[in-house]
Amino acid sequence: MCTLTRKLLIAGNWKLNNTIVQSAELVKDLLKINCETHKIDIVVAPTFTAIKVVNDLLSKSSIKVAAQNAHWEENGAFTGEVSPQMVKEVGGQWVIIGHSERRQFFGEVEETVNKKVAACIKSDLKVILCIGESLEERQSGNTFDVLDRQLLGGLVGLDDNDMASIVIAYEPIWAIGTGNTASSEQAEEVHCYIREKLIGMYNQSVADLTRILYGGSVKPNNAGELLSKPNVDGALVGGASLLASDFCKIIDAALESIN
Ligand code: 13P
Repeated sequence: MCTLTRKLLIAGNWKLNNTIVQSAELVKDLLKINCETHKIDIVVAPTFTAIKVVNDLLSKSSIKVAAQNAHWEENGAFTGEVSPQMVKEVGGQWVIIGHSERRQFFGEVEETVNKKVAACIKSDLKVILCIGESLEERQSGNTFDVLDRQLLGGLVGLDDNDMASIVIAYEPIWAIGTGNTASSEQAEEVHCYIREKLIGMYNQSVADLTRILYGGSVKPNNAGELLSKPNVDGALVGGASLLASDFCKIIDAALESIN
């Protein structure tokens, strides 16, 4: 039930890093190493201000561009926000929604995450919906309750068709930026749980087709092991996506895992 092959997705979340000039350099490095491939999907998520430049540089490449956030309204009195349509206007095709750093530092909760996911889907953007527990929640045995809440809350009102545009990223907060990656067994256990949950929320086919990425200290030296698990359908990479050689090694590991 948990073994169907899905196209892997490797996404680089650059977070609040790289000026426009640095972003362009990173993209040029990626293109120089020539790690792109049609066998897996590759996405990079620069800051809003760099999306256009990055997208222009990638125009002949199969690598797609994501925003790291988007507001749910198209326009209006929402100082500081950027709408899904505006992301599209500069070439973004994907949006990361509900990252734990947004939940932790910017007060995002299930309801706002859900509004953002719905607005992005309505604007024909693909979404990487992030969920994951803190160390405290894991240690107190609440991992699955937290994931239930974030998954159910984030996907309210979204139907089977919408799910074709949604990728789930499991990012345990204790593994993000700490070097303490989840073991491949821990990741597989949670990914299987999420997939089972999707059967209950939707059906077998949606659960089989939805990609579930792992994120949290994914590096060239652990990517192969993580990606060898049948329910780990790719990675959401932070720190290691800032160096073209490391990001490309992770892409290579993904390619090796499907060969
Ligand atoms: P790191 O790979 O730096 O741990 O970050 C993971 C992450 O938060 C990706 O969204």
